[in-house]
Amino acid sequence: LAGLEGKVDKNPKTAAIILAGGTGERFGKEGGKQLVEIGGKPILTWSVEAFDAVGDIGLIVIVCPAERQGEYLSKAVDPFSFATPIVVAAAGSTRQESAFSGLELVPEEFEYVVMHDGARPLISADLIAHTIATLKGNIDADGAVVAHPAIDTLKVVENGVIVGTPDRSVFWNAQTPQVFRAGIYRRAHASALSDGFVGTDDSSLIERLGGRVLVVEGKRDNIKLTVPEDYLMLVAAVRERYLKQ
Ligand code: CTP
Ligand code: MG
Repeated sequence: LAGLEGKVDKNPKTAAIILAGGTGERFGKEGGKQLVEIGGKPILTWSVEAFDAVGDIGLIVIVCPAERQGEYLSKAVDPFSFATPIVVAAAGSTRQESAFSGLELVPEEFEYVVMHDGARPLISADLIAHTIATLKGNIDADGAVVAHPAIDTLKVVENGVIVGTPDRSVFWNAQTPQVFRAGIYRRAHASALSDGFVGTDDSSLIERLGGRVLVVEGKRDNIKLTVPEDYLMLVAAVRERYLKQ
């Protein structure tokens, strides 16, 4: 972190980790999906801009494949100007390993860590700030997660046959951002490492330690570029955002 001293001039308590270290298998394009352009800039840049605009955030860690760090910086960061210090961490082979790698670059003085999928470009600074404020305003909570109530009817399926229809009202779809108190988030990673637990999001690591994680209601439109058809939805959503301005 050489060179960062004195640069952390915003409220230094919250660090953001933006995960951009996946290979985008389901998207299926060579070169991955994080640098795919929407509305004239890489999708990763959209997220960095949103986090940069949140006053509480004093450090942004971007996690990307080790061998492509130069390319990511030159395409998604350098051509744009950000007020927040940005550092780059090397991705691991799973999302969770990448999150841990990013966490290792967060200095101890940060009391909150907010995680985000770099493949969710539509996140707004307002929703990030609201999620962080929800955790900061609840002294007995360990985290806050953006999610929305499940929309489709859920089925339990075994060998191609429906064996149950659970009560949908208790199911939510979790997205990012997900913000946590740094201490329990670090302990949750250490615990998962020691017993080999691999979760599909960050909150699940804290839940298994008995942590209390709040839900912040978001919208389905904070989609993640995952499969090719998501691209068209993102292009349309960005176009609508521009037209509204
Ligand atoms: N991610 C990461 N490191 C990994 C795997 C995923 O940083 N080893 C990041 C992705 O870059 C993405 C987010 O975690 O921003 C959510 O993951 P996902 O949408 O699954 O992206 P990929 O793993 O790249 O896609 P796929 O699973 O289709 O290969
Ligand atoms: Mg993946």
